[in-house]
Amino acid sequence: MHGAEPATHPRVGSLLRVNGVDHLIALPPDRSLLYVLREELEFSGTKYGCGEGECGACTVLVEGVAVRSCTTPVGEVVGRSILTIEGLANGEELHRVQQAFLDAGAFQCGFCIPGLILPAVSLLERLPHPADEEIRAAMDGNICRCGGYLRILDAVKVASRPPGGPGKTPP
Ligand code: FES
Ligand code: FES
Repeated sequence: MHGAEPATHPRVGSLLRVNGVDHLIALPPDRSLLYVLREELEFSGTKYGCGEGECGACTVLVEGVAVRSCTTPVGEVVGRSILTIEGLANGEELHRVQQAFLDAGAFQCGFCIPGLILPAVSLLERLPHPADEEIRAAMDGNICRCGGYLRILDAVKVASRPPGGPGKTPP
């Protein structure tokens, strides 16, 4: 992936806010956000899949909105709040969506999962109790090569339920 990065003049002294921490970057503004996250800042939980905006593996949240980081120039997100999968847990305590994915057995190889969990988090913040169609729409275009879509759907549905609430425990 790195050989394809454009060679332009660096912009010095831009601050990139990732997971609540400001990072000083000195890179061309057209460098991809994915490249900066993975190769400069070592947030390797954000995955490189297609590199063309087609698979969703590189999805992160920018101001709470899911974006494909592989097709987002870093210059567009300077000064905005970026959330990667590394910023989701609270210390040792997983975010409820991460826990729901674990509980639902939605992980197989796991490669696609960060790119699916983050749009699920964004969805549930906007729509706490989404319908199945709304969950599917939020993840439209995210590819799971292991084919775990039904368990992924189940995981988001579990995460949308209040702890101990209806549907959590079979009657
Ligand atoms: S790597 Fe970004 S959409 Fe596939
Ligand atoms: S769990 Fe393997 S690609 Fe989705």
